[in-house]
Amino acid sequence: MWIGVVSLFPEMFDALTQQGVVGRAVEKQRISLEFWNPRDYATDRHRSVDDRPYGGGPGMLMKVDTLRHAIRDARERAHQATGLVPTVIYLSPQGRKLDQKGAQALAAAGPLVVVAGRYEGIDERVVESDIDEEWSIGDYVLSGGELPAMVLIDAAARLVPGVLGHQDSAIEDSFNDGLLDCPHYTRPEVIDGKRVPDVLLSGNHAAIKRWRLKQSLGRTWQRRPDLLKGRTLDTEQQRLLNE
Ligand code: ADE
Repeated sequence: MWIGVVSLFPEMFDALTQQGVVGRAVEKQRISLEFWNPRDYATDRHRSVDDRPYGGGPGMLMKVDTLRHAIRDARERAHQATGLVPTVIYLSPQGRKLDQKGAQALAAAGPLVVVAGRYEGIDERVVESDIDEEWSIGDYVLSGGELPAMVLIDAAARLVPGVLGHQDSAIEDSFNDGLLDCPHYTRPEVIDGKRVPDVLLSGNHAAIKRWRLKQSLGRTWQRRPDLLKGRTLDTEQQRLLNE
């Protein structure tokens, strides 16, 4: 999967790309990440990358020409590297809310150019002309698009085949089947008098699977009943529960 990032703070992405699952995927070249900094396109003495909003008010917007230049170079490079036309994504609270289905769609979408905004945002005409999709990571406001961009990239990248080892396969993920995850336990068997549920020590794999599904269903019902609306169990789940 090829991902281009447009950001004024590319160093922030070290947190994503230099360790953990995504770091390993970059190392194994399952994921290619390249960066464009609008500041590199600034030509004035101060290398400015912000501009005042028409109509006044507090805060600045990203300067249009440096931003567009960076997006266009990223777009061109995506095409050169993959032969495909990338989807250009802008992160903002006004976008489509990211969920696991969205992450699956992004992971399968082909090359992405992810634009992280700063200041109060970007000119609406740039959204209209240069951006294909606007995505939000939730109903709260962050100080910039870098963290949201990393969230989106992480959520999509771990679904790219070969990124997760068998060990932590995405099949087992919470939300993979639209339910919350079941509880997990590791050693020791007793903590503060609380025992690991017997079934997990039983070695009975069918019983363990059934217990985990029941836990997932129960937790989802208790904590996020909205996720169950309009849902039915798939045949494998029905079979398991009827066993
Ligand atoms: N930029 C600032 N807040 C954001 C959010 N919640 N989602 C996506 N981008 C953002």
